[in-house]
Amino acid sequence: MKDFIVTPWEVKGNIDYDKLVNQFGVKLLKDNDLKKLKKITGELHYFLTRKIFFAHMYFDNVLESYEKGEKIYLYTGRAPSGPVHLGHIIPWMFTKWLQDKFKASLLFQIPDEEKFLFKDNLTLEQTRKWAYENILDIIAIGFDHKKTKIFLDTDYAKTLYKHACMIAKKITVSTAKATFGFNDSNNIGEYFYTSMQSVPAFLPTIFEGKPTQCLIPCAIDQDVHFRLTRDVADKIGYPKPSTILCRFLPGLQGMQSEGKMSSSVQQTAIFTTDSPKSVKEKIMKYAFSGGQPTIEEHRKKGGNPDIDVAYQWLTFFEEDDKKLEKIYNEYKSGQMLTGELKQILIDKLNVFLARHQERREKAKDLIDKFIVE
Ligand code: TRP
Repeated sequence: MKDFIVTPWEVKGNIDYDKLVNQFGVKLLKDNDLKKLKKITGELHYFLTRKIFFAHMYFDNVLESYEKGEKIYLYTGRAPSGPVHLGHIIPWMFTKWLQDKFKASLLFQIPDEEKFLFKDNLTLEQTRKWAYENILDIIAIGFDHKKTKIFLDTDYAKTLYKHACMIAKKITVSTAKATFGFNDSNNIGEYFYTSMQSVPAFLPTIFEGKPTQCLIPCAIDQDVHFRLTRDVADKIGYPKPSTILCRFLPGLQGMQSEGKMSSSVQQTAIFTTDSPKSVKEKIMKYAFSGGQPTIEEHRKKGGNPDIDVAYQWLTFFEEDDKKLEKIYNEYKSGQMLTGELKQILIDKLNVFLARHQERREKAKDLIDKFIVE
């Protein structure tokens, strides 16, 4: 078993999600949790039934509060450093579903200082430029502008900063070191950053003027920040935020070779602005295959959908369970070849991206409706 690393800034290796849940001290989403959710939402998103969103902290608090007729808020974010790829939008798609089902207000943080602080090669001007590019992708997901606030940290600081100070005062250097693996050579901006990511979890209570539940849909690596937020919440008199956590979309080269899709390795990522031709080329050329080396062997032995990236991606993008099951069985039995499986994914993604790219263009006229400063 190869080792893996998951921190908010690094994801590597073949991730054992059960181990990770233990490591992080979060909870698996149980059938009973989903049953309670379904009572409210009427149906379950396939991300839930397929355990793409699979873990949580204090999710029950949110449901309980909602059932009492209280308002709940959603909060998520994106640190701009480059173009948006398909892995990034998985939590956003789910957040949009939650917004519709709970008719909830959404706070969308764009920490344009984060990657500036953590990387050597990005200026604040560059992260700001990426922020606007990324916001187009966020708007394209279809959030309700009447219920969504998107903000850049460096602009919204006048609202965020004083709360960040309240939080920062409760986090010692030794806690930050133990939580994030920092040492004496990390810059002090890196130490402070987690307080900025905590603030929006408390804004619901601040805005409403009474204790208000905040649910944070995000990839599991981000829970590390919110563990600190939950510790601090008690100390400064806010409700603990809840998280609902997802796995990573594997990179094209497969979960064995890399933990998640990465923007820095072109061959492993499909970007939201990729052309149909480039989607086809990347998948045909790079997607790790669970097929056999020759057609004869494949027909005889069948393929392995569990390690096949094209199949794994379909579990994220093909919403129809029956279609997915049919593909699984046909591929496993050898009836379906790798090229055919890849073509199904290519067609699926290109339909999805055409629609996304159209909305992304329209988003240029909508930006002002979403951004708060
Ligand atoms: N740290 C996140 C990133 O690297 C950005 C972020 C800020 C975020 N606030 C969040 C992500 C809340 C999820 C939930 O992209």
